[in-house]
Amino acid sequence: MSIQESIKIVPQGEIAIVEFDLIGEKVNKFSTPVMMRLKEVLQEIARSSYKAVIFKSNKNKIFIAGADIEEIKTMTTKEQFNEAVKGGQEIMNMVEDLAIPTFAAINGACMGGGCEFVMSCDYRIASDDPSTKIGLPETQLGIIPGFGGTVRMPRILGLAAAFDIILAGKAVNSKKALKIGLVDKVVHPNLLMDFATKWAKEIIAAGGKKRRKTYEPKGLMNHVLEGVGQGIVFRKAREGVMKLTGGHYPAPLKAIEVIKKTYGKDRETALLLEREAFCELGVTDVSKNLIHVYYLTEMVKKQTGIAGSQAKARPVSHMGVLGAGTMGGGIAYVAADKGIDVRMKDLNVEALSKGLKHASDLWRKLVKRKTIDSYQFQQKMSLVSTTTNYSGFKNMDVVVEAIVEDINIKQKVIGECAGEMRPDAIIVTNTSSLSVSEIAKGHPRPEFFAGMHFFNPVNKMPLVEVIRGEKTSEETIATIFELSKRMGKMPVVVKDGPGFMVNRLLLPYMGEAAFLLQDGMSVEVVDKAFVKEFGMPMGPFALMDEVGLDVCIKVLKIFKKSFGERIEMAACMTLLEKSGRLGKKNGKGFYLYAEDGKRGDVDSSIYAALELPAPTNPLAPKECLERGIFAMVNECSLALIEDKIVESPQEVDLAMIMGTGFPPFRGGLLRYADSIGVVYIADQLEMYANERKASRLKPATPLRNMAKTQRKFYS
Ligand SMILES: NC(=O)c1ccc[n+]([C@@H]2O[C@H](COP(=O)([O-])OP(=O)(O)OC[C@H]3O[C@@H](n4cnc5c(N)ncnc54)[C@H](O)[C@@H]3O)[C@@H](O)[C@H]2O)c1
Repeated sequence: MSIQESIKIVPQGEIAIVEFDLIGEKVNKFSTPVMMRLKEVLQEIARSSYKAVIFKSNKNKIFIAGADIEEIKTMTTKEQFNEAVKGGQEIMNMVEDLAIPTFAAINGACMGGGCEFVMSCDYRIASDDPSTKIGLPETQLGIIPGFGGTVRMPRILGLAAAFDIILAGKAVNSKKALKIGLVDKVVHPNLLMDFATKWAKEIIAAGGKKRRKTYEPKGLMNHVLEGVGQGIVFRKAREGVMKLTGGHYPAPLKAIEVIKKTYGKDRETALLLEREAFCELGVTDVSKNLIHVYYLTEMVKKQTGIAGSQAKARPVSHMGVLGAGTMGGGIAYVAADKGIDVRMKDLNVEALSKGLKHASDLWRKLVKRKTIDSYQFQQKMSLVSTTTNYSGFKNMDVVVEAIVEDINIKQKVIGECAGEMRPDAIIVTNTSSLSVSEIAKGHPRPEFFAGMHFFNPVNKMPLVEVIRGEKTSEETIATIFELSKRMGKMPVVVKDGPGFMVNRLLLPYMGEAAFLLQDGMSVEVVDKAFVKEFGMPMGPFALMDEVGLDVCIKVLKIFKKSFGERIEMAACMTLLEKSGRLGKKNGKGFYLYAEDGKRGDVDSSIYAALELPAPTNPLAPKECLERGIFAMVNECSLALIEDKIVESPQEVDLAMIMGTGFPPFRGGLLRYADSIGVVYIADQLEMYANERKASRLKPATPLRNMAKTQRKFYS
């Protein structure tokens, strides 16, 4: 079918209804052919005698999803970007310049170019369907809105509300859109077209008034007065972005700069400045990396966790959670939040009430923020029930075990639990350091057993490692993969093995930090280098405190047992074990903690406690960063190439970004490694291994082979 069918004019008396329904695609998007067709349609309308036009989508939950990211991905030069953006801007101007009133009837996602399109219309009506979201996500892809978004949005919403959307790259629901003036009316989806048509007829009857926007500079006095207030808004916006991003993301800063230059300017000048900035950003590595991350998340949406298998995920409507502690409470919250019926079991009522409180506190915060109302709060709470025995477990489709990290107890409890459930029900363990295949020995039917490794805090961390035990069936993996997605998580299937994927890479990184301490570096300098320079969400010492120092040491020992020589534990870690410091959980670690758990300054007594002299910081931050990050790359070469823990570099990168907050602007650990070169990494590791007498840093065989043959992880 031709592109003509994708955008059609359906006459309705004096009104032209323009229907978007991109043939052969799930979503409407502004690809080059679509834009060319839209131009034709607009020209036809301009020549016609229609008195008004209403734009609508025939897709179910999509209005217009935005520009075609596939096209953006392939563009590499400023000239390519300039041509595409100029074309888009011209089309938005054509919409704005139509002599008749224009209406957008928005149902479903209206993002990026879609949002810029509706802002070019005179009147906007949105449905109150939950799928209706309007926003400008471009800065999340390292670019800025380029079809007039930075020009029109501040004029429609004012600076503060426009910054709120553009700088965070976010979208708002129709209620919020109405409140900030991004839409004029909100109606039930069934009434959307009736309402739009009625309104169009009224406007026609009243003379067909356009809603003119002004691009002209205001009067001089206004300008001066506004200038003072605006100066503050621009400064605050910049400060906010710097605080949040550490300056690693150029797009939001550029957006502020563009808006500062273009606010109040004529349309042509403003659009030219926007376009130039867009072209500058489009060719940056940061943008390419962020687009790479976007594709990683899209990849998961399409996956089943069992490529090539015919097995099907089973539906899950009832979920049990064993253990209502830190993890169990979080897991129950996330599941019930997505409408799954959850039953938590713990040893006593006190533990259960803690788990319940954890969930209710999180929902209460949402009520306070007006994200949910009190009726929804009650509904969600009613999905979580508790028990100290196995009553109700016959109903469970899946049970997640999140009790103490002890293999004997886990095996015993899992056996007990399996006896109380249907024979085909699944049990998964949230263990972070034990072997899933070993725990499975406690289950009478290990094909119905797997790992489902959530990260702490469960409500915030998007990653779930789905661990395939030796006997886990494909159906079990598919079910847990699908369940993770339903819980709003990003699942990655990982083979059973010490530390699975993420912890296996993190441990050498944290372990190396302890060696840096022994080399005379201070906690502050090392953590600062990783956060400020590299862009990690927290440095290795803060991370160790967060995880629990006892847990880190325990896992390091497990690694040493499994991997032998390769894993070295800094002598100071042994002293740390004896020091009684557990990190954040007992308020004593590398840092000091307030009563409420807030991290304070570095605990200056840490050096004496570890029998280390006062730090002199003899090493350059570059060495600290390279030793920490390259230790992860080195381990990853073994995990990925030798042990095939996961199948692809994409999965490593997704897991590291979603599970550890590895800076997305670097595109993931292995994309970063490729960008600086495996040869360089192997050479530096060799050099540090020799100079610092650190055999742990010697490049592993797969990494050395890659360097020799000049191979990349993404080959
Ligand atoms: N805390 C983390 O950061 C983290 C991250 C990932 C995975 N994990 C894993 O998750 C599991 C739970 O960790 P946590 O931090 O939530 O522990 P926790 O100590 O906060 O909670 C454990 C809960 O299990 C309960 N429990 C113990 N035995 C039980 C039994 N027989 N039946 C029912 N409940 C029982 C305890 O009463 C307690 O409430 C562990 O396997 C841990 O390794 C923890």
